[in-house]
Amino acid sequence: MTSASILPEFLAALPLPTLAIDKSERIVAINPLAQALVGTGADGRHFITVLRQPNLVEAVEQCLADQTQHTATYVSGDAGRSVTYDVTICAMAQTGVVIVSFQDVTQLTQAGQMRRDFVANVSHELRTPLTSLMGFIDTLGGPARDDAVARDRFLGIMTGEAERMNRLVGDLLSLSRVEADERVRPTTRIDLLGVLQTAIQNLAPLAADSDVVIHSDFGSEVGDVAHHVLGDADQLLQVFTNLMENAIKYGGAGKAVDVRVAVHAKDKALRGPALRITVADHGPGIDPLHIPRLTERFYRADSHRSRALGGTGLGLAIVKHILNRHRGRLKITSTLGQGAQFTVVLPLDMQIS
Ligand SMILES: Nc1ncnc2c1ncn2[C@@H]1O[C@H](COP(=O)(O)OP(=O)(O)OP(=O)(O)O)[C@@H](O)[C@H]1O
Ligand SMILES: [Mg+2]
Repeated sequence: MTSASILPEFLAALPLPTLAIDKSERIVAINPLAQALVGTGADGRHFITVLRQPNLVEAVEQCLADQTQHTATYVSGDAGRSVTYDVTICAMAQTGVVIVSFQDVTQLTQAGQMRRDFVANVSHELRTPLTSLMGFIDTLGGPARDDAVARDRFLGIMTGEAERMNRLVGDLLSLSRVEADERVRPTTRIDLLGVLQTAIQNLAPLAADSDVVIHSDFGSEVGDVAHHVLGDADQLLQVFTNLMENAIKYGGAGKAVDVRVAVHAKDKALRGPALRITVADHGPGIDPLHIPRLTERFYRADSHRSRALGGTGLGLAIVKHILNRHRGRLKITSTLGQGAQFTVVLPLDMQIS
């Protein structure tokens, strides 16, 4: 068997789209993955008519000429979605046949873009209060140096800005901790009604300050075995604190916040027994346009209002990651002018202890 005759079989065994081009510049072997990429019927054709993209064609030409390794990028438009490949082109010393292999780097490219966006967002969020702090420091050191009234007012604003930065850093750390253990399923059995009660108690001062009453309808008593889930109590407390805090903040003064719990023997989304906890407010609601994006980091439906209320835009992103870890779901519904409903669905732990 000659080395040329094993080439197609050899390429077929490779996990990457790969093809071979000989000295006559024709494709002499191509594996099924590469056929799926560049189309069938490429075998025997001149490589330029198949590969077409200038930077790849040029890299192959150079490799054929100097027999050294070259790299290029290839972008394929696959069903409306573009896929980016890193292409390696090397020559086989004895025959001069050039091997072209494609590696899909779309996810890597996207992850890089997400990282860059994240850093840009964080910098922007930190820069705003920092710029304001620097402005006040200048004023206090100069024009307002001897003005006691202005000094007190500015110090008050500066405290607010410093607290915002502190909250942002705290939320970022919390988000990164949640992401780090997102794949580790919680194994502790906890009573969810107890968690909800703690959240309501913790938020009582904020509710009172905001002139909001929290109504809870648990349908049964705390300690009832029907409300047990496998979970991390601190993280679930954070979920309901974030949702209730939003309902209080955005629902507005004088309005009630309702917390309802329902047990579903067979939940459609989770395909099993589940608890549904709904936190509903009676505020202005959320435009449906924004709903799919609310759990993205730093996304705010009404950024002016959210910032004015001290929001960092990370609360719901944290909620989403914690629920992922608990195999739960978050459903958001709203009608403008009639408030918003945030429903958490968590799998029930049915074990009898
Ligand atoms: N109950 C609600 N009613 C109306 N809009 C809401 C409600 N809950 C959330 N939103 C909108 O969703 C956005 C994202 O909420 P999220 O909790 O992630 O951030 P935040 O409240 O702005 O800041 P943080 O919670 O980090 O302090 C908010 O900025 C707000 O515009
Ligand atoms: Mg919030």
